[in-house]
Amino acid sequence: MNEFLGKRIVLGVTGGVAAYKAAELVRLLVKAGAEVDVALTAAGAQFVGAATFQALTGRRVWQALWDERMDNGMAHIDLTRGATALLVAPATADFLAKLAHGFADDLLSTLCLARDCPLLVAPAMNRQMWENPATQRNVVQLRSDGIKVLGPAHGEQACGEVGDGRMLEAAELFDDLYAALQAKPLAGRRVLLTAGPTFEALDPVRGLTNSSSGKMGFALARACAEAGAEVTLVAGPVTLATPRGVRRVDVQSALQMHDAAMQAVPGQDVFIAVAAVADYRPRNAAEHKIKKGSASVTLELEANPDILAEVAARPDAPLCVGFAAESRDLGTYAEGKRIAKKLALVVGNLVQDGLGGDTNSVTLFDETGSYGLPPADKSEVARGIVKHIVRLLEGTNEQH
Ligand code: C5P
Repeated sequence: MNEFLGKRIVLGVTGGVAAYKAAELVRLLVKAGAEVDVALTAAGAQFVGAATFQALTGRRVWQALWDERMDNGMAHIDLTRGATALLVAPATADFLAKLAHGFADDLLSTLCLARDCPLLVAPAMNRQMWENPATQRNVVQLRSDGIKVLGPAHGEQACGEVGDGRMLEAAELFDDLYAALQAKPLAGRRVLLTAGPTFEALDPVRGLTNSSSGKMGFALARACAEAGAEVTLVAGPVTLATPRGVRRVDVQSALQMHDAAMQAVPGQDVFIAVAAVADYRPRNAAEHKIKKGSASVTLELEANPDILAEVAARPDAPLCVGFAAESRDLGTYAEGKRIAKKLALVVGNLVQDGLGGDTNSVTLFDETGSYGLPPADKSEVARGIVKHIVRLLEGTNEQH
């Protein structure tokens, strides 16, 4: 993934034990293509040394206002010029207070004041410091100044107490930073998705399912949230982490997925059915484990409802998007599905191009034609699909 390719991020590190997570965050950013300049405060350097950040970024670390490496002696200004964002992680209670009041008595606080790029802070402190009215006042001030506050999380703290104040994990900060920098064409829109397989019980321990990994649906949910939508994700049994900011409803069977989707559908602007729903379920699931012994067992199956077709047929139907995984004649089947189910868009892919992997190669079918997206990892493909959905919502979809 190259989310930060060609971008320069300035990372401020202040004096908290969570500074160790900043080192991991640097690694993730560099792996995603970013150039990272670390501005380390004196207190920050008590926790993680400059050598660590220098090794991870491949760049010298900035620690002093009077750094002679800048020809004009203006590191406090030049470092954020041309930067994509300035993120302070961890941001201590003391640093938030300085920021809220506009103090500029070291390199990092001066950088924050003199910046011309978005500023984000990831608070990290003991729960009582976080709950203190002074800190809360400062956070309100920072938000109203347009500074984005990421977290903090709730949980166990280094001091042994439990509460709010833990810094977000590096991967969460990475996702939040990326999302904060994206355009929000879906702001004010509500998107409902289904994802993953379904599991149709045969008895208390066995069932019929399929090999859907859920990765494409989860990537789409994440891309919709990044684009500013309020996202509800109805997920079959998968072992994937919930994307940041997404409301998740876990289900097992197709009937449960149907009920959860139908309950959530009123008020939605978009419905994206990514789930590989089992077409049939056992007519009678056995109450107790089926014992071996018989030479053969006959299963009677009955059809499951088609969730997507049912949503698309509603008078209050949102814009409906379906998926078509086919082994041949992709165009014919995908287009047939779009028309039969009355969908605005079908995302088609050939199953031999891979199921369950991290990459995907898809073609989009809408009433104006078909559009191939370049093969890419599922996050990138998801962002391409979201762009197309935005065009359909805005009625600006022409041959492009
Ligand atoms: O008709 P087919 O199963 O090939 O259509 C696939 C599309 O329909 C996918 O978007 C899938 O999520 C959706 N679907 C559904 N409910 C079903 C079967 C398929 O929502 N019972």
